[in-house]
Amino acid sequence: MATATSNLTDATPHAAPPALVFPPDFLWGTATAAYQIEGAADTDGRTPSIWDTYSRTPGKVRNGDTGDIATDHYHRWPEDVQIMSDLGVGAYRFSVSWPRVQPTGRGPAVQKGLDFYRRLTDGLLEKNIQPVATLYHWDLPQELEDAGGWPERATAERFAEYAGIVAEALGDRVKTWTTLNEPWCSAFLGYGSGVHAPGRTDPVDALRAAHHLNLGHGLAVQAMRAALPSDARMSVTLNIHQVRSLTDSAEDVDAARRIDGVANRVFTGPMLHGAYPADVLDDTAHLTDWSFVQDGDTQIIRQPLDFLGVNYYTPTLVSAAKVDGAHNSDGHGVSEHSPWPGADQVAFHRPPGSTTAMGWAVDASGLYDLLLDLKREFPALPLVITENGAAFDDYVDPAGAVHDPDRIAYLRGHLAAVHQAIADGVDVRGYFLWSLLDNFEWGYGYSKRFGAVYVDYPTGRRTPKSSARWYAEVARTGALPT
Ligand code: NOJ
Repeated sequence: MATATSNLTDATPHAAPPALVFPPDFLWGTATAAYQIEGAADTDGRTPSIWDTYSRTPGKVRNGDTGDIATDHYHRWPEDVQIMSDLGVGAYRFSVSWPRVQPTGRGPAVQKGLDFYRRLTDGLLEKNIQPVATLYHWDLPQELEDAGGWPERATAERFAEYAGIVAEALGDRVKTWTTLNEPWCSAFLGYGSGVHAPGRTDPVDALRAAHHLNLGHGLAVQAMRAALPSDARMSVTLNIHQVRSLTDSAEDVDAARRIDGVANRVFTGPMLHGAYPADVLDDTAHLTDWSFVQDGDTQIIRQPLDFLGVNYYTPTLVSAAKVDGAHNSDGHGVSEHSPWPGADQVAFHRPPGSTTAMGWAVDASGLYDLLLDLKREFPALPLVITENGAAFDDYVDPAGAVHDPDRIAYLRGHLAAVHQAIADGVDVRGYFLWSLLDNFEWGYGYSKRFGAVYVDYPTGRRTPKSSARWYAEVARTGALPT
């Protein structure tokens, strides 16, 4: 959402601040993704995804880290479910690994792969933790990439087939579903700047990928609704960028509009309004005529959704640039290739204030503004914060404890922003802390720790951080402690 100003301050000056109480049915959860935690890369018939190939390619991921073992959640999941139960969270957002379930991306499912998710969801339900399943958190089967990947229409059709298989297999246990996680990253970091798998760097491929991810979402919702009971809830998760212009000058405001177009509206346009925004088509007309969009596609993409998942970490501050330059606005990794087709003359700036270990500015007002903007644009659509959290340089102290006051302060500030948005009329139904565990942070490997639970990678040992205890209290009371 593009906006120039904000009026939320982090702390409201009260002598004795009242506790911030959330609605009684507000859902408290934690989130993970398959490739980031499961490990067991070659177990029970799983074959490589694009992230296996990419991370095994020298120079792509920091320290040469891969998801081969990760947190070994594939074997340690009972312990992780117990940790969640101890935290008292009501929901767990995880993703299903496509190459574990359908190794070649086509044809019949591997039952052993599905069995893992059957065991996991049974374990969650036994502890009264609601499973929230994401179908695609970036691990495309390598064979589908070899056939052209997301720039090809066939990949959207394959995705819908896979989504139908998973819905059929887990629909008796899982009631809440998400098709895609952050398709912006899949399209523009995967095929534009190349800092994510599969590491391709063609702006037209990136736009084609964005469309076929959108189409895959629409086809998948159709396939899943056909396979699921009528009470199933469907969603998609977007990392809506809260785009702010550095000044109010017409040039800077236009730079913010262009980034908002290829960051946000290229997805929300077709998914929620049923059309690609005219300005996005114009901005990219020198690259492509968008003839890969076929008649009827945007009707397929626009499916009724039960809620929109929102991932938020930091705002995006831009100005008009006079010169070409490397774009690296999101801290996802440095590339000479831009992830912003049609927006080359834009400069990115670090917003003021403190930063996390990712170099991302801590600014809860961005989340508040984003939620208010979404309510204005989509008044009837419930929202769920499907990810929010921060990486810091956590360590185990000599007493065996992990103290992470910066993470607690980050979570408190952002939850206060959510609370304020709800008070101001936004329909936010839940919040999922990213992440349950320290895990494989994509191009940064294991060097960035987002977990509420510390993972000692050589041994797999889990140590809940102070923030885990703090969050457990929030989940238990449904309120932010004063
Ligand atoms: C969003 C992604 O969905 C998740 O996989 C990632 O680890 C976090 N952001 C932090 O970068």
